[in-house]
Amino acid sequence: MANKDPVRVGVLFSETGATSTIGHSQLQGSLLAIEEINAAGGLDGRELVPVVYDAQSSPAVYARTAERLIVQDRVNTIFGCYMSSSRKAVLPVVERWNKLLFYPTLYEGFEFSNNIIYTGAAPNQNSVQLAEFMTANFGARVYLVGSDYIYPYESNRIMGELVLQRQHSEKVGERYVPLDANERDFAPIIADIVAKQPDFIFSTVVGNSTAALYRAYAQAGLDPRTMPISSLTTSEAEISQMGADVATGHVTAAPYFQSIQREDNLKCLERLRRRFGDSVPNLCWEAAYFQMHVYANAFRRCGDDEILRIMPHILGSEFDAPQGRIRIDPSNHHTCLYPRIGIANSRGQFTIVREATRPVHPDPYLVTHSLGDWTTTLTTLEL
Ligand code: ACM
Repeated sequence: MANKDPVRVGVLFSETGATSTIGHSQLQGSLLAIEEINAAGGLDGRELVPVVYDAQSSPAVYARTAERLIVQDRVNTIFGCYMSSSRKAVLPVVERWNKLLFYPTLYEGFEFSNNIIYTGAAPNQNSVQLAEFMTANFGARVYLVGSDYIYPYESNRIMGELVLQRQHSEKVGERYVPLDANERDFAPIIADIVAKQPDFIFSTVVGNSTAALYRAYAQAGLDPRTMPISSLTTSEAEISQMGADVATGHVTAAPYFQSIQREDNLKCLERLRRRFGDSVPNLCWEAAYFQMHVYANAFRRCGDDEILRIMPHILGSEFDAPQGRIRIDPSNHHTCLYPRIGIANSRGQFTIVREATRPVHPDPYLVTHSLGDWTTTLTTLEL
């Protein structure tokens, strides 16, 4: 008789702490996909059941809870983590137990694990495009500001290297703040920015303190038209916290923005709003959503999520995600994605000013710096 037992998976994001807003959206993306999968008959008649914990934005809680999901809840697969420090904490746990982690967040690259599938952008899918856009439009004197942990250090190093390849380039400042930074923490940094007058700022500040940086910038009377903040982590979720007026004119590079006018995206947003109402979909929400479908499709092909059984069905697989048709790269476990550049507008959305029309292959070690296909260049900026 066919196995009709439910299939339990771990869903491990942060609903409290420094990255709670973005973590909440990733949880919603995961749950929406699970509900769609179950509505379509589950995994060959087996219900997909999420086991959800709040990892509290703490790497130690991530590691402890990942182990609990594996040992006590007996899941084979965990969907989770936002900050790279949390992924670095979960990595040895899934490797020790030979289980699988799907990680739906942009990150600094330079990592591979047989036990992880990376569905957010690698630096060749966001940093390279952002460096090109900022230096072409604003100049190559950059001021780096980030939160105090591994992703900002590494992402700033990469951005520094990309920008310093240009003429008249200079790294004019590099500063770090605690994860719970407030406007007072940013005041001396903004004063330094005012004194040094970079061409643009690159922010690797993450989570709920992002709003404090942009507010401190606005209060100092700085003008995004001449010296914008650029980022890979300031999404619609962070903009909902700072307010559209504060965000307008600043620049983000990401494979996904809510404002993408594809049919798949519009329908998915409609389902999300019907289900959750208060959602703020963003690049990490989208990755959390599509990776669950990638998993479910692979499960259906082999009837199991034991890592050695399911992995060959994940690698090389494709899915029509809200951003476009994505593919899991078999050689490095990262994902082929569509780089885009968005400028925040007065509606709390991003006006997409550049986008790849074909997916860019992930190159987490930055062996090549391909810009992908930038044939769709929108030159009229409606802010
Ligand atoms: C990040 O820490 N990967 C945003």
